[in-house]
Amino acid sequence: MVSILEKLEQEPYGLLSARSEAKELSIEEVTQKVREKMLENYPHVVVEARMSRSKRKEAVGLISNVIISSELYVPKLTRQDLAERIAQEICGLGPLDELLDDKSVTEIMVNGPGRVFVEKDGILVHTATTFLNDRHLLEIINRIVQSAGRRVDVSMPYVDARLPDGSRVNAIIPPLALNGPVLTIRRFPQRYTELSQLVECNTLEPDVACFLENCVGARLDIVVSGGSGSGKTTTLNVLANAVGSRERIIVIEDSSEIKIPDHHVVYLEARPKNMEGKGEVSIRDLLRNALRMRPDRLIIGECRGKETFDLISAMNTGHEGCLSTVHANSSADCLERMVGMALMAEEGVPVEILRSWIAIGVDVIVHIEKTLGGQRVVSGVSGVGNEPGKGLSSFPVYLAEHGLRLEFPSWFVEKIGKERARALVNLDY
Ligand SMILES: Nc1ncnc2c1ncn2[C@@H]1O[C@H](COP(=O)(O)OP(=O)(O)OP(=O)(O)O)[C@@H](O)[C@H]1O
Ligand SMILES: [Mg+2]
Repeated sequence: MVSILEKLEQEPYGLLSARSEAKELSIEEVTQKVREKMLENYPHVVVEARMSRSKRKEAVGLISNVIISSELYVPKLTRQDLAERIAQEICGLGPLDELLDDKSVTEIMVNGPGRVFVEKDGILVHTATTFLNDRHLLEIINRIVQSAGRRVDVSMPYVDARLPDGSRVNAIIPPLALNGPVLTIRRFPQRYTELSQLVECNTLEPDVACFLENCVGARLDIVVSGGSGSGKTTTLNVLANAVGSRERIIVIEDSSEIKIPDHHVVYLEARPKNMEGKGEVSIRDLLRNALRMRPDRLIIGECRGKETFDLISAMNTGHEGCLSTVHANSSADCLERMVGMALMAEEGVPVEILRSWIAIGVDVIVHIEKTLGGQRVVSGVSGVGNEPGKGLSSFPVYLAEHGLRLEFPSWFVEKIGKERARALVNLDY
């Protein structure tokens, strides 16, 4: 049985207006009034509701009371709906909340206030979600980045941050973005931690997974290459989890994504410039510092520029078992990109020397691709080294077309040593 009171609660506000002198207002006006009252009377509930969903319920109840006592009214919305919408705005992330609640959404892309896309099961979908205007979207963006201790404004028009659940956020605003504020949220609805999980979701063949586990165990230097959103960081994270629990791992990232529980890990995160253009700490700075922290393993989330030089130097000075990722279209492309990025450091090292450092430093490249259907597949694994008469070179150990071939050229066996080469082919799966 639905009581009359409950029934009235369900009805659009227009029907209730006869009961009071309530003035017809826009949702923005009502939100603003309620925001002021909530911050004045229940600031702790607002703050706590930003962190916890259960507190959000309490906030909705209090907002509902404020709506009644202030006689606020928005046409075509029940009080409950209105209270929830306002709670989303005051305590949550506005229209983004609904998308963040949907566990099948892996990526949220907001191209200005009127166009919001999501990726579900690897496929891009245009949603009905919209923001009121640029200002509304900018407010939500600032709420996200401020909670991560960052900011976005005209002097700093793009920023990376993280949501409390670990989702990666990038925002770029006008005048750099021409569509209005643009927000991209990368979610990790499923955390892959074990190589076996990548086998289960058909990203890796079981024998390749076993080979890669051996590579990590043998402390080879591994680079994961692939296009944007292909699954590089995820693969890197899974490889990092295969590191022995007695090794001291130092993880360096622009924006922290990698998680290696049950290991001896130090996580370092780079810092952008402050308002005065000072205080920047780059991946390069962190990497140099990490060398003085007795690392057994260095993990660089992504090589995008000058830090490639320092990573290659580290690989050449006895730091074995380094792991990183590079944005590239193939293993060969990955090596060339590494040369180019190392040159950016302008350390005066001739390109031929850099090539030989990469040949000595990098042992294995794992190439991952995103298929048209949205699946992530490791399409190749290559060995890297100095091929006599050719210099920096790679050879396929695995190709999706012909499977795993565990025959290494003699120059590769010489480079990694016979014992390690034997350990690599010892497949037990
Ligand atoms: N093997 C996989 N199978 C299915 N989904 C995956 C797989 N690996 C990653 N994903 C999903 O794909 C998305 C992108 O993953 P990830 O961040 O690892 O890619 P990336 O190549 O590092 O991206 P970027 O180039 O932006 O750094 C995430 O939502 C992740 O959960
Ligand atoms: Mg990545």
